[in-house]
Amino acid sequence: MTRIARAPGRVNLIGDHTDYTGGLVFPMAVDRWTDIEFEPLPDAIELASADEPEPVRLPLRIDDPTTVTPAWGRYVAGVVSEMSPTHGIRGHVTTTIPIGGGMSSSHALEVAVALALGFAGTAVDLAKLTQRAENRASGVPTGIMDQFSIAAGVAGHALLMDCGALTVTPVPLPEGLDVVVQFIAHRTLVGSAYADRVAECAAAEREIGPLREASASDADGLHDPVVRRRAQHVVAENQRVRDFAVALTAGDLRTAGALMVASHASLRDLYETSIPVMDEAVERLVATPGVHGARMTGGGFGGCVVALTEPGALGDGWVVHPVDGASVVDAV
Ligand code: GLA
Repeated sequence: MTRIARAPGRVNLIGDHTDYTGGLVFPMAVDRWTDIEFEPLPDAIELASADEPEPVRLPLRIDDPTTVTPAWGRYVAGVVSEMSPTHGIRGHVTTTIPIGGGMSSSHALEVAVALALGFAGTAVDLAKLTQRAENRASGVPTGIMDQFSIAAGVAGHALLMDCGALTVTPVPLPEGLDVVVQFIAHRTLVGSAYADRVAECAAAEREIGPLREASASDADGLHDPVVRRRAQHVVAENQRVRDFAVALTAGDLRTAGALMVASHASLRDLYETSIPVMDEAVERLVATPGVHGARMTGGGFGGCVVALTEPGALGDGWVVHPVDGASVVDAV
C-alpha cells in the first residue's frame, strides 16, 4: 500500500534573521505542499520528482551528503545521514511550493523525507533533525524557523515561535484579512552573505552576551559599526514580533502593518539582506489601497515579499492560508 508524506511550505509574517540567535519569529505553514507518495523498499531510497529530470538513488547510510548527485538529492541525503533509517522507500515527489522561491521548498522536502522514512517524535525533534540535515546538505548555518513551522503548523493560526525555548504559541489570524505572497526573484542561500550574518551576530554576542536578552542600548554600545547594525536589527526585530502578536490579537491591523514596514526597513538598512527589486515591491505594495503592510520574508537576497491586505486588495500574488503541519496519510 502506498502512503503520502505531506509537508507544507511556510511564510514568515515578521521576525527575520532572529532565529539563529534564539530569538522570536512569526511564521505560518501555508496551503502549498510537497507530497511524497511512497512505498517501503528494504535497502535503498529511490525518489523521482515531477520537477527534476534525474531521480535520486541512495543507500541507507550516508556520511557526506554534499557529494550526492543530482543536487536535489543532497537534501534527501542530509536527512538520511541524520536518520540512518532501517528501511528505505521508493517514492514520487510533487510540489506546489515554488522551488527556490523563498517559501521553504527544500525544508518541506526534508521534513517529508523524514516522515516517509518513519520519523516518529515531536515536532521539535523533527525540526531539529531536519535543520541539521539542511545545514549538512547545504553547508549554510540556517536556523530552525522554517522546519519548525512546517512541523508545527496549526490551521487558521500563525505561530509565535521562540527559537531559543523552542516553543510555539498559535495565534489565530483575524477574519477579513488576506495574507498575500509575491514571488520577486530566485535565490539560494548557498554562497550568499547568510553565513556572514550568522558570524556577525556571533561577534556581537561575544561582546554583549545573548542577543535574545540584549537591550537596545547594549546593541548601541557595540564597537564595530557593522556588528552594531546587525545587533540593532535583531534586538528591535524581537520586540517587533512581540508587538505584532499583540496587535494581531487585538485586530489592530494598522499597527501590525506598520511593524511589517519597519521590519523591512531594518532588514534593508541595518541587516542588508534585501535587494532593490524587493524594496521596490514593498514600496509598491504599501502604496496600494487596502494593503496594511508588506515586507520581505525569509532569508532575503531574493525570494518573496509578504503583505497583509483587505480581502481581494491585490490582483497579483498568492493568497495563502495557514494549515496544519506535516503528516503522513494513506494514499486513496
Ligand atoms: C532562512 C533560514 C531561516 C531564517 C530565515 C531568516 O529562511 O532557513 O532559518 O534564518 O532565513 O529569518
